Amino acid sequence: MEQTLILIKPDAVQRGLVGAIISRLERRGLKIIALKMLQIDEALGKRLYAVHQGKPFFSGLVDFITSSPVIAAVLEGPRAVEVARQSMGQTDPAQAAPGTIRGDFGLEIRRNLVHGSDSVANAEQEISLFFSPGELLSYEREADRWVKES
Ligand code: RTP
Ligand code: MG
Repeated sequence: MEQTLILIKPDAVQRGLVGAIISRLERRGLKIIALKMLQIDEALGKRLYAVHQGKPFFSGLVDFITSSPVIAAVLEGPRAVEVARQSMGQTDPAQAAPGTIRGDFGLEIRRNLVHGSDSVANAEQEISLFFSPGELLSYEREADRWVKES
């Protein structure tokens, strides 16, 4: 089953939106298989955003993601990567549709509340930055047969 890494960023933690954001993704039907709170250090921040190295916003991005604790979660479900990003909305909250997390809670691109992996391959790599294999739990949810066909 497909997995994705979600981060609830420092702005959302500071604003008390952790529960609201997790709740939206959970209610969608995605299954939480790992969850932790941590303070990202500079080395981890740079690895997470390595693809953006060299861009003008890179250092600000690393400063921001390391500025306060975050929540890291692994969510599982059919097409989890795409579904989570759809629920998050466009990168820039000003362009994100109402009803999405960024569209309902955000205003600016550098304070956009959540991170979600953008491909299955990147999800696998990002999950390994935050969780050891033993921290990903495998369990059945009774309600899943009402959420998924198989
Ligand atoms: P994320 O990685 O955080 O889930 O966001 P994303 O895929 O929607 O966006 P991405 O292109 O990966 O950019 C990573 C984060 O960098 C900030 N950003 N700032 N022009 C800018 O100032 C700019 N562009 C991107 C955003 O906070 C974005 O989430
Ligand atoms: Mg991204």
